[in-house]
Amino acid sequence: MRNRSTKLKPNDPCWCGSGQKLKRCHRIEDNRVRPGLISNLRSVPHSIPSPSYADGRAVIRRPENRVKSADVLERMERTGQLAADILIAAGSAVKPGVTTDDIDELVHQMAIDNGSYPSPLMYGGPETPYPKSVCTSVNEVICHGIPDDRLLDEGDIINIDITVWREGVHGDTSATFYAGEVDPASHRLTVETRNCLLAGIGVVIPGQPISEIGRAIEEHAMAHGLGVVRDFVGHGIGEQFHTDLQIAHYYHPGLTTLMERGMTFTIEPMITLGSPRAALWDDGWTAVTADGLRTAQFEHTVQVTDEGAHILTEPTNRAGHPFWELQDLD
Ligand code: MF3
Ligand code: CO
Ligand code: CO
Repeated sequence: MRNRSTKLKPNDPCWCGSGQKLKRCHRIEDNRVRPGLISNLRSVPHSIPSPSYADGRAVIRRPENRVKSADVLERMERTGQLAADILIAAGSAVKPGVTTDDIDELVHQMAIDNGSYPSPLMYGGPETPYPKSVCTSVNEVICHGIPDDRLLDEGDIINIDITVWREGVHGDTSATFYAGEVDPASHRLTVETRNCLLAGIGVVIPGQPISEIGRAIEEHAMAHGLGVVRDFVGHGIGEQFHTDLQIAHYYHPGLTTLMERGMTFTIEPMITLGSPRAALWDDGWTAVTADGLRTAQFEHTVQVTDEGAHILTEPTNRAGHPFWELQDLD
């Protein structure tokens, strides 16, 4: 195994690829994302059907068929497309000077304008219900960053993770966007994270164990010297946001469940420039890299078909979607 000890010393070349010494470039401790102010709870009109947890109750887990009926699949396709369209709209708003709360406001409004409930809002149970309608994960934030008053800065990368619930089903998708121009290492990280998701999607076929997905993702990440986060995984999805099915993004031979036609789940690799070890903020949600180096993520909800993965979170129009638009590096 490669030694992943990535403790950078002040005289080491900066992780960003500038060629400068770390102490003259990005000093990690000075640049860490810190918790900001979270705005008041946004309301959802009573006319919009809400999931049972919307009023702060615990998420009740019910048994749910892994293989979906044609009817559920049709509804998931429509809800997935809405999630993808909201993702593109939110990504287009990303620029220096915009706050992550501005993005939450946009996502919340677009979700309810389209008759959907923003799934993250109040999700997770009475102790620490998620307080916002979208996850915004900036720079070293791995996932579940809570929108707040932090201004996006030139060179930031931000994962926006959209989940909406409509017609009784969830659609879950995310991508990493740039605030202005980003450094070469962040660009490489983002492109290869997209390629990790492509690699995972590429091995979806009935009859194969779901561990093949993580194997393909991990191989791609390792070939590019990148880390794979283990603490968060993809998940079965449908009438419930997260079902018991787990999709690891690293090779886990114990995941022997075979993919079957009609199954639906997410693939959502979180890939790191340095160590994939995670730490959690006191808010109980925000997961960051322990070493403070950057991380990126892409996510699609997919359906297993005889021809391979069918992406349920396809936008109406791919323009502006980094999953489809990021150019490969040579
Ligand atoms: N959308 C995230 C996922 O991909 C889950 C967010 S849970 C929340 O699974 F409560 F933080 F919204
Ligand atoms: Co997900
Ligand atoms: Co998600």
